[in-house]
Amino acid sequence: MTIIAPSILAADFAKLGEEVRAIEAAGADWVHVDVMDGHFVPNITLGPDIVKALRPHASIPFDVHLMIAPVDPYLEAFRDAGADIISVHPESGPHLNRTLKRIREIGAKAGVVFNPSTLPETIEWMMDEVDHILVMSINPGFGGQSFMRSQLDKIARLRAMIDATGRDITLEVDGGVNPETAKLCVAAGATALVAGTAVFKGGPSAYADNIRALRGD
Ligand code: DX5
Ligand code: ZN
Repeated sequence: MTIIAPSILAADFAKLGEEVRAIEAAGADWVHVDVMDGHFVPNITLGPDIVKALRPHASIPFDVHLMIAPVDPYLEAFRDAGADIISVHPESGPHLNRTLKRIREIGAKAGVVFNPSTLPETIEWMMDEVDHILVMSINPGFGGQSFMRSQLDKIARLRAMIDATGRDITLEVDGGVNPETAKLCVAAGATALVAGTAVFKGGPSAYADNIRALRGD
């Protein structure tokens, strides 16, 4: 079954604890946390202290998407705050291989994020270091953007690269995912979907239906 990871970027920021509890109760598999620094991407969101404050509100994994540069100095703080998966953009530091090894050393799953312009080959020589792959189907920085269909081929390419390893690397898609584009992602080989707008629209009473719709139920 496809993993659904609601992005709390679209939650009510004044009630984040409640929102995290509500999505877990509604059937979410992971909590997707978008960390932005106003420098690597043109928006600012939240830091490790907020992740730490939210952690006791859910028992499902925290999938932390770091859109910050430099990223290396902050890995430990996010891990200590309770991040289970830590994903980084190759463009956010000079040594992706070292960054991924460090994420594993501190006990988290190591993820790589592909911007729309990032080539699949970026990770060709370090598939052994990767636990998780996140394909952006928008330019990172904001929720509510439209899904870029050009990224479907990239999802399929990465699916083939993952299958060749024989390892269970999760392949997640982020940006403009709704019940219609979710189907395209899964058909291309995605096993996890991030959704902000499509989960949080309609308020807490709609979350369970919104999550079911993304799964195609
Ligand atoms: C954007 C974030 C996404 C964003 C997705 O940089 O990485 O996780 O919240 O939002 P929607 O689902 O609204 O496109
Ligand atoms: Zn994200």
